[in-house]
Amino acid sequence: MRHLIDILDLSTEEIDELIQKACDIIAHPDAYSEKCHGKKIATLFYEPSTRTRLSFEAAMMELGGKALGFSSASNSSASKGETVADTARIVSNYADIIAMRHPKEGAPMVASMYAKVPVINAGDGGHNHPTQTLTDLLTIYREKGRLDHLTIGFCGDLKFGRTVHSLILALARYTDIRIVLISPDELKLPDYIIQDTLIAKNISYVETADLEEYLPELDVLYMTRVQQERFFNEADYIRLKDSYILTRDKLATAKSDLSILHPLPRVNEIAVDVDDDPRACYFTQAGNGKYIRMALILKLLEVE
Ligand code: NCD
Repeated sequence: MRHLIDILDLSTEEIDELIQKACDIIAHPDAYSEKCHGKKIATLFYEPSTRTRLSFEAAMMELGGKALGFSSASNSSASKGETVADTARIVSNYADIIAMRHPKEGAPMVASMYAKVPVINAGDGGHNHPTQTLTDLLTIYREKGRLDHLTIGFCGDLKFGRTVHSLILALARYTDIRIVLISPDELKLPDYIIQDTLIAKNISYVETADLEEYLPELDVLYMTRVQQERFFNEADYIRLKDSYILTRDKLATAKSDLSILHPLPRVNEIAVDVDDDPRACYFTQAGNGKYIRMALILKLLEVE
């Protein structure tokens, strides 16, 4: 039985297969509409979500299956003190696959040790978010036609942004990837990712606090929200929250085929005047999330 806890649980070949499967689902949705007939997904969300939870549930429904679950810790037995391990054991009796989001790093991994069905990490604290990475890779592939020979800028909260962490781990396995890390000093990419991934894999990278400095060189710009819920101190959040605001004017120097991604939700970091720019991909990206999760559910449930 396979789980997806970390994006590196999948080989690059498997990721490429998932992307091809998602493209096939997009082209021939009817061929997949009964593939998971009689199956159920449980979405166990201990933290807020719109896209991730609803796209998992929509993905299972579009495969002919059903969805059940909870959308906050307060309306589950976690509020009575039940452990993740016990919840995972119990829910294994009710569903064929589990998607779990939790504020504590490692909670979905613990669930996978006790569950009798596949567990998918749908975001664990400030750590990882592998299915957002699959969504991002599908989006880059559909926009650019490739996942190698790319210069990718990550802008915003690189410290707490779990989507950034997982995407960097995944991209580091492709060829000729250049990474530009754009953040305020307090929100820089954690040192363990710099050391164990960028330096260890000899990936070309630069760190800057200036969004405009490298903008003309980027093929992909990955904007992120400052992760308010991970701050200890409200004053720090308020000081840092508007560090970067991408506007249509700032894009004047960017490539004409730049792809602007954002895992969403956006707060202030992309002005609405960017939404109509053909380079804005973040709404298509959110749509892609459903298709790649359909492909992932099929893989983990071993449906042909
Ligand atoms: C992201 C998350 O939850 O980490 N959202 C998402 O899943 N699309 C990004 C965020 O909350 O800023």
